[in-house]
Amino acid sequence: MNHLLTIGELEPVQIQQLLDLSAELESTGEQVLQGKNIGFVFEKPSLRTKIGTEVAINQLGGNAVQIEADLLLANGKAVPFTCRESLYDAMMNVSQWCDAIFARVYSHNTLVKMKEYGTIPVVNALCNMHHPMQALADMLTIQQKFGKEKKLNIAFVGDANNVAFSLFETALQMGHSVAFAGPKQYSWDEDKLNYFSLLSVQFGGGFNCTTNPAEAVSNADVIYTDTFVSMGEEHFFEEKIKHFQPYQVNEKLFSQAKPETGFMHCLPAHRGIEVTDEVMDHPNSWVYQQAKNRKVVSKGVFTALLCDEYRSLFKPQGKPELAASLSN
Ligand code: CP
Ligand code: NVA
Repeated sequence: MNHLLTIGELEPVQIQQLLDLSAELESTGEQVLQGKNIGFVFEKPSLRTKIGTEVAINQLGGNAVQIEADLLLANGKAVPFTCRESLYDAMMNVSQWCDAIFARVYSHNTLVKMKEYGTIPVVNALCNMHHPMQALADMLTIQQKFGKEKKLNIAFVGDANNVAFSLFETALQMGHSVAFAGPKQYSWDEDKLNYFSLLSVQFGGGFNCTTNPAEAVSNADVIYTDTFVSMGEEHFFEEKIKHFQPYQVNEKLFSQAKPETGFMHCLPAHRGIEVTDEVMDHPNSWVYQQAKNRKVVSKGVFTALLCDEYRSLFKPQGKPELAASLSN
């Protein structure tokens, strides 16, 4: 049995196979998930991940089964009689009916436990550290714009968090170069900086971390940002926003890149905060194509996990030690 918790579990060749399979399933409309039931459990809100994936599963002939987050995940609160049953028991039950589970959780460790306790594949729909399904959709979007061969410069301006982490793991493994700009106090720790540098050396790209957004975007083919304040840290808004103001992707910053540079955002966007209307609605903004591709890559991932014909795409490859230590 296999899972998808982080991009670091995948080899570059598997990433490409997943993207190719996703595009193929989107164009053929083959109903490869008939009779498959996928449980959705979301501890946090979601539009794109939940609806995009549900539509993907429906289009492949499968069923998405919504599970109330409190039924499965309330035990994280560890207060007797406020949770119905242990995560172990809940996962063992869900494993009797569902073929896979798609989970959005606060803590990555919850996914690790779900994987350990259940007998079905677990797919990460976003956690505090990773957003692998987003990163796959982003790489598909990038390839649709530039083709598969060209090595690119990807600038990420903003918060060092889940979306950026999975994007960097994907882009660096595909041989692209990444430039990150964000405030020092919210930047990557040394382990993660080392990890990105190692990936860049291993796969022939480059990695640069700066506090200067103009430097990061100067040679960029793509400028990416995410919200400055992620789900669950809304109470830090006032504090964070003071440091992030210089990192807004606005016309001035966008015009410091090349005229053909694209803009990407995982969404939801906070217009006027991390990005302005001018950039969101710019002809080079690819944000809705990214959103569309959230559905497309879900097709490839669940098919690779659940259909015997494609399961070899997910053969365990042995995760690099450093990536493993960063994920727990
Ligand atoms: N990008 C993304 O994951 O969006 P949702 O939070 O709406 O799922
Ligand atoms: N970093 C954001 C991504 C939302 C898709 C969050 O975790 O809320």
